[in-house]
Amino acid sequence: MNQQSQDAADHDRLLWAARAAAKNAYARYSKFHVGAAVLTENGEIVAGCNVENASYGLTMCAERAAIFSAVAQFGPDVRIRSILVVNGDDAPCSPCGACRQVIYEFGPEATVIFKASAGWTRQAITDLLPYGFRLT
Ligand code: THU
Repeated sequence: MNQQSQDAADHDRLLWAARAAAKNAYARYSKFHVGAAVLTENGEIVAGCNVENASYGLTMCAERAAIFSAVAQFGPDVRIRSILVVNGDDAPCSPCGACRQVIYEFGPEATVIFKASAGWTRQAITDLLPYGFRLT
């Protein structure tokens, strides 16, 4: 399979997993349902959804839920090849700043896929988060 076909196949798998996760979102305050799916370097897919709280600041975004679940499943050395984020109503949804830093931690070369107002977008995490923080 060439790179373009591989990317398209990965996109389909990630989108399916992220959409399924968005259906499970606990978004009773914002009503903004989000699903995310990560593709690990080993080819596994792990999904997450946003989980809100009556104390709003405790809300967890879908992207971080997916990444933390991947760590729980595959351990601390897990690395992210790409992550796709989707809103349940297909509204534009790009990862927040906090999630960008967490994506960078586990995937410094990750591709981030999301719907912008202009449509589906693929961006390197380092373009979305220049000078990401790293302890060396
Ligand atoms: N949210 C995410 O889960 N991911 C994003 O990339 C943006 C925002 C959630 C947080 C909150 O539950 C709701 O969307 C509205 O901000």
